[in-house]
Amino acid sequence: MSTLAGRLIRWQARHGRHDLPWQQTRDPYRIWLSEVMLQQTQVATVIPYYERFLARFPDVKSLAGAHLDDVLALWSGLGYYSRARNLHAAARILVESWGGRFPRTREALASLPGVGRSTAGAIAVFAFGEREAILDGNVKRVLARHFAVRGYPGERRVGNRLWKLAESQVPEKDIERYTQALMDLGASVCTRARPACASCPLKGTCEARSQGKVEAYPRSRPRNPVPLKETAMLLLLREGEVLLEKRSPVGLWGGLWCLPEISPDADPRDYCRRRLGARLASAERLPLLRHGFTHFTLNITPVLCRVASASPCASEPGQVWLPVEEAGQAAVPAPVRKLLNSLRAV
Ligand code: ADE
Repeated sequence: MSTLAGRLIRWQARHGRHDLPWQQTRDPYRIWLSEVMLQQTQVATVIPYYERFLARFPDVKSLAGAHLDDVLALWSGLGYYSRARNLHAAARILVESWGGRFPRTREALASLPGVGRSTAGAIAVFAFGEREAILDGNVKRVLARHFAVRGYPGERRVGNRLWKLAESQVPEKDIERYTQALMDLGASVCTRARPACASCPLKGTCEARSQGKVEAYPRSRPRNPVPLKETAMLLLLREGEVLLEKRSPVGLWGGLWCLPEISPDADPRDYCRRRLGARLASAERLPLLRHGFTHFTLNITPVLCRVASASPCASEPGQVWLPVEEAGQAAVPAPVRKLLNSLRAV
């Protein structure tokens, strides 16, 4: 039986993916961008975002010179917006401290905001051919099964064990294909549910398989029930325009444009009178929208509010009135975009 890496490399050549947009390049900027977008998001979702982003910001200099708002607008809908803020901050560091060039070691790459150990490893491999290990969610699953590693990988002890295993398998040559093979196997064969073990190049040595317990590895996160939070979002309409508010740069949806929020028990009329000095002609609750975050679920009650057109209407710094069509294109989170798009039919 050949080494684990040898079998993976041969398997990748025949069965792996070869034409993903970030596989056609050694440009570290393009590879970095793809790895960051792929951190919490699937390939099929990432591709159109990746292409739009590159068309607008083709290199690290253009990204460093951009306004964060424009970066967030291109990220809008992809979620986990700290990735976009970190990307922008890292581009500025690269230009200011590294002369606009990427460092090639994993350690230096991992010093950039938003680049963890595995992402740094992937960039070092794909851009520079460095012999580094990676350990993203897919690779954790492949290794936890193959070596029957017990315990939840988010625990430090288990994570360390998996990193040691990942490092121990790194081949002398063909590191790029080997790394891609791990990703591809995790995405297409060694899937979380119903893995296709019959077509796996590692089936002969997989310990989880020999125990007949493939799906028991890796152990999933011990779950506390996720809390439910409630909010009401005001769709304030006035002469074809809708009011958006900019969120503070830190925290949930930091730096994005959102609809004004009030407690679901509060009266939108009070908000309008106090904050805008305006009177509402009508307020209508729309169907509940549910949005899942990692740590909680948000129940959103949208309220469609028509501002009386004769009413004076102040806006504060950090607020804008935008035509409804335009608002849907701004840097807004996915549920807000959904609400704004539904307004176009109103
Ligand atoms: N997930 C993370 N990095 C990836 C890559 N380079 N190709 C496919 N899926 C990935």
